[in-house]
Amino acid sequence: MSVRKAVIPAAGLGTRFLPATLALPKELLPLDRKPAIHWVVEEAVASGVETVILVLARGKEALLHYFMGNPSLKGRKLDSRLARWTEEVAQLRSRVELVAVYQEEALGLGHAVLQARSVVGDDPCAVLLPDDHFLPSPLPALVRGHDERGMGGLALRKVSPAEVSRYGIVSVKKADAPHFILDAAVEKPSLESAPSDLAIMGRYVLPRGFMRRLADGRPGALGEIQITDSLHAEAMEHGLYGYQFTGTFLDLGTWEGYLEANARVAGSTPDLAARLSNALANPPGPMPAA
Ligand code: G1P
Repeated sequence: MSVRKAVIPAAGLGTRFLPATLALPKELLPLDRKPAIHWVVEEAVASGVETVILVLARGKEALLHYFMGNPSLKGRKLDSRLARWTEEVAQLRSRVELVAVYQEEALGLGHAVLQARSVVGDDPCAVLLPDDHFLPSPLPALVRGHDERGMGGLALRKVSPAEVSRYGIVSVKKADAPHFILDAAVEKPSLESAPSDLAIMGRYVLPRGFMRRLADGRPGALGEIQITDSLHAEAMEHGLYGYQFTGTFLDLGTWEGYLEANARVAGSTPDLAARLSNALANPPGPMPAA
């Protein structure tokens, strides 16, 4: 069976984006025109996914409202922009079954994904982390890897020594770049103990039965259930497919990365590029301290 379900963990508190995230889910902050959540749902659908499971924390229901549309607009004559975007979101919504589950406690990424178990069952599923944005998406390659090799798959990116300890890092058994067979994974190792410079990025295909493995997972460091520990067990027993991504990666998980991503994506249209570089060359006068 191919990959028809996707889990999108969106239960984080977004502390790097305070104070906006006091009232707004981080995943609704826009990259260019569209909120991060729109981009990832669209990406999942484009890879053949039919059911998306959003993992939410209490208070983040605005993510559902985004897709449900505004009933008070029904039957009214709409401004052309409002009509366009209402239609675009409705179109996307009509192509996918959206299910919400809650993660009641922040006990790690593995725990967040496990909350989707009642919907995923034993089926293979994709996982998309909205903080990681790729142009183009590596997910189709992971789905192909799964279908052709019968393995779970991970998007990989070569990272600099300074970045190694921020990511899950894999050990490679067989390499024919961009295709790899992996035999181990370790969460946020020190540079000295890292098995390679290939980092796990936020696109996964979890193979059939993986939820059972996650459910058996013991909490690791900080009492959290890390998905990487279960991926390690899977890699050792059955192997995992790794696809090295070499396109443009944008990190929406930090404030600096978010600003940079917007400058790069919005700035790729000629008129905005000129405006943005002009703006950077003309900073405002002294600002009050943040
Ligand atoms: C999570 C995973 C990590 C992975 C990263 C990708 O870390 O635990 O293995 O490399 O996502 O973005 P987090 O960003 O939640 O700290």
